[in-house]
Amino acid sequence: MTQVSHLHFSARRQQLMALMRAQGGGVAIIPTAREWTRNSDNTFPFRHDSYFYYLSGFTEPEAVIVLVANSTEESAMLFCRDKDVEREIWDGFRYGPAAAQATFGFDAAYSINDINAIMPGVLSDAATLFYSNAAEPHLDAQLQQWLQDVRAKNRTGISPPAVTVDVRVLLDEMRLFKDHVEIALMQRAASISGAAHTRAMRSARPGQFEYELEAELLYEFRRNGAQSPAYGSIVAAGANACVLHYQSNQAQINDGDLVLIDAGCEYDSYAADITRTFPVNGRFTPAQKTLYDIVLAAQTAALACAKPGARYMDGHHAAVRVLTEGMLETGLLDKQQVGSVDDAISSLAYREFYMHGTGHWLGLDVHDVGLYRENRVIADEKPYRQLEAGMVITIEPGMYVRPADHVPKEFWNIGIRIEDDILITADGHVNFSRDTPKTVSEIESEMRQSHSLQS
Ligand code: GLY
Ligand code: MN
Ligand code: MN
Repeated sequence: MTQVSHLHFSARRQQLMALMRAQGGGVAIIPTAREWTRNSDNTFPFRHDSYFYYLSGFTEPEAVIVLVANSTEESAMLFCRDKDVEREIWDGFRYGPAAAQATFGFDAAYSINDINAIMPGVLSDAATLFYSNAAEPHLDAQLQQWLQDVRAKNRTGISPPAVTVDVRVLLDEMRLFKDHVEIALMQRAASISGAAHTRAMRSARPGQFEYELEAELLYEFRRNGAQSPAYGSIVAAGANACVLHYQSNQAQINDGDLVLIDAGCEYDSYAADITRTFPVNGRFTPAQKTLYDIVLAAQTAALACAKPGARYMDGHHAAVRVLTEGMLETGLLDKQQVGSVDDAISSLAYREFYMHGTGHWLGLDVHDVGLYRENRVIADEKPYRQLEAGMVITIEPGMYVRPADHVPKEFWNIGIRIEDDILITADGHVNFSRDTPKTVSEIESEMRQSHSLQS
């Protein structure tokens, strides 16, 4: 793993504490995720909570961050597992509070076993509780008991926080804007993921199974130090590409099929999310090329809107227009039936072949946090927010053609999506996944090289 200095995480804690003070001060409680049983005595691979990680860099389970920020006091505390020589023989290293405090730069660290004894005192007379209800239900129950313990002291003049603020609302806005360390990690995640897509293209052969290409992706992720896929990889051949969340990856790939791969790794907790679509035999058919170039033109139109000042949905609207024009030109949509491009857009006729949005925020989570709309209502609508430098979005238009009598047969079962990861910068954007072959000629030439090497 890349070692990111703890100063970086403590600076984020400071930033959150400043926001807490601006709201009258109080106590923030941010737990990590819990471990889940998979079966028998096996657990699913542990993945820390993204908010918790964002503020700590600490990746062990059974941990809670507590921040105290008011006009007289500022303290960042960590509760974590004790050192346990016996358990460490079985499960591996644990920091324990003393080493965790020093390594991760907290003001104090305590055993997680002491949290019930310590927290009522921390919460006594706090003005505001900064906490996300129902995020980790096991902690909700503990918190109730802590507050009960504070209320029990009310005759001594001590009270519990009168106000609760959802701490995630503050953190979402912080997480939406990526700093230089995050940008470097996201570029690395996208570069590894792009290399994985290229590897899958190079190794694809008719007759293979989808899972064989999935294995190529995983190999490239892990050999480059990525911890895991950032989400379930989609490797969908032929008609399976029209199943938007296809993940079984079990089918055999026939000569002539397009393969849609939507896969990205998680690198030091940051996600990439890239989709490429290519012909398993290395050559697009004329019908595949026709639709592919429409989707690519739609993505190009959306990319032109990826700049500061554009509204979040501008890219989607631009992509929908190009896709709808293409649907009318190719006869996927019948002009007699749906009318003009504007008519087909306003009646949502295009949704038969393009039924999802054109992107989302990307960061620690593949569908990352942050408001998509402004927090005000104008003419009964909340406007989409403007893009700003430091935001990262995906741009992922597609087209999915299921067999139907009114659809030209040459296009049946073609599913295409093209997805890149885009950092908004002061003067436009940077495409993190720019090195992944994307045009018809780039893909065909990449595949031609690998095929000629093998034959
Ligand atoms: N891979 C999930 C998405 O593209 O949103
Ligand atoms: Mn996506
Ligand atoms: Mn995706």
